[in-house]
Amino acid sequence: MTAVFPNNHNLLLKIARETGTPVYVYDKQTIVRQIKKLKSAFNNLPHQIHYAMKANEAPEILQIMKQNNIGLDAVSPNEIDHALKNGFTSQQIIYTPSCPSDEELHKAFRLGIHTHLGATGYFDFVLKNYPDIPVGLRINPGNSIAGNQKIATGHHHSKFGIPVNQLPLIKEYMAKGLIIDSLHLHTGSDVKNWQDLARSVDVIFDFARHFPDLKYLDLGSGFKVPYHEDDPSIDLQAYAGYIQKKLEVLDRPLRIKFEPGKFLVSEAGVLLVKVNVVKQGFDKKFVGVNSGFHHLIRPMYYDAYHHIVNLSNTEKPADKYDVVGVLCEEDTFAYDRPLSPVKKDDILMIKNAGAYGYAMASIYNLRDLPKQVLIEDENFRLI
Ligand SMILES: Cc1ncc(COP(=O)(O)O)c(C=O)c1O
Repeated sequence: MTAVFPNNHNLLLKIARETGTPVYVYDKQTIVRQIKKLKSAFNNLPHQIHYAMKANEAPEILQIMKQNNIGLDAVSPNEIDHALKNGFTSQQIIYTPSCPSDEELHKAFRLGIHTHLGATGYFDFVLKNYPDIPVGLRINPGNSIAGNQKIATGHHHSKFGIPVNQLPLIKEYMAKGLIIDSLHLHTGSDVKNWQDLARSVDVIFDFARHFPDLKYLDLGSGFKVPYHEDDPSIDLQAYAGYIQKKLEVLDRPLRIKFEPGKFLVSEAGVLLVKVNVVKQGFDKKFVGVNSGFHHLIRPMYYDAYHHIVNLSNTEKPADKYDVVGVLCEEDTFAYDRPLSPVKKDDILMIKNAGAYGYAMASIYNLRDLPKQVLIEDENFRLI
C-alpha cells in the first residue's frame, strides 16, 4: 500500500531531486481529508465554512476549497481581487480586515462583499456612504487563551475587534440607522482546548441578544493541529455540540460561520530543504540548510515547533542538532533536535508547513522564494 502523505518519503525525495530545493510540497488528498473532518464535525449545525485564505493563497489550493463548497475569508483588497480572479463570487467572500483605510472599505462595499468592522470609528463612514448596507461587527470578547500571545487576538489588550463594553455606543449608532446583521469573533490561533473557544462563544451568544437583525454568527477559527508528534488536536465534535446547545437556547434562525486556515492546510504541506553544511560549534552541532525564516518564519516568530525528519537517512535519531538557515540573522528552525545522522546534501522535511509558510515568505537578504508543488493522485506538478 502506498504510504500516506507525508510518510511517502520516496515520492518526496523524488520531488526534491526533480524540482530542486527548497520546495513546499502540498498534498490535495490531505486537504480534502481535513475539509471532510470539519464538515462532519459541524454536520448538525446550520453552517458555512470560509477558508482563511491568508494561510495559503495558492490558486490550486483555492480551487480545492471551491470544489468543496468552501467560501473565503479575505483580509486585504489584494486578497479580495485574488479570490474574485480565482472564480469566487462576492457572496462567497467575507471580509475581515484589520484597521483598513476608507479606500479599502469603499472597494469591499462597492463589490458587495460582506464586511466585518473591528472598530466603532468606522460607523460614521458607513452611515454617510452606505446607510442601507448591513455590516458585521468583529467583537473582542476580552478572553485570554493559552499559548503564544502573538496569536492571541481576543484578550483585553488586543488591537482586534470592538470591546464588548462598547455596547452602549453601538446601540447609539443602531438608533441612528446602522444595520448590523452579523457578529464575528476570532480569539486566536492554535487553541488546544475547545473549552477556551467556548468561553468566547458564551460572550457572543449573550451579545447577540442585543441585535435583532442578525443573520449569522461568525466564530472565527483557532482550531489546533498537532505540531508535536504527540500533540492532541482540538475536539471539534464536542465544540460543535456546545454551539448547537447555545443555538437551541437562543432560539433564533442564525447560521454559524467558521474561518479555519491552519486546520485545512497546515498538515497538508511540508517544506523540503537541503543540507548545505554540518558544522561543529563549541558545544553543539549545527545543520545549515538552504532555507531560513524568509521561507518559514513560524519557529522564529511564534516559537513554533515543527517536526523535522531526515529523509535521506532512515536510521534512528542518534544526535542532536540545531537546524539553522542561511540568513544573516538568528535563523533557527529547531534547537537541539534529535535527527538521524545528517550529512551534506541530505534532504530534510519540515512538517506541518502548509499554513502561514509560503504565505509569510519574503526575499529578505535578496534570497529567492521557495518553489511550490502540489501532489494530486500520486502525480506532482509545480504550482
Ligand atoms: C480573522 C481571522 N479568521 C481566521 C483566521 C484563521 O485562523 P487559523 O489559521 O488558526 O485557523 C485568522 C488567523 O489569523 C484570522 O485572523
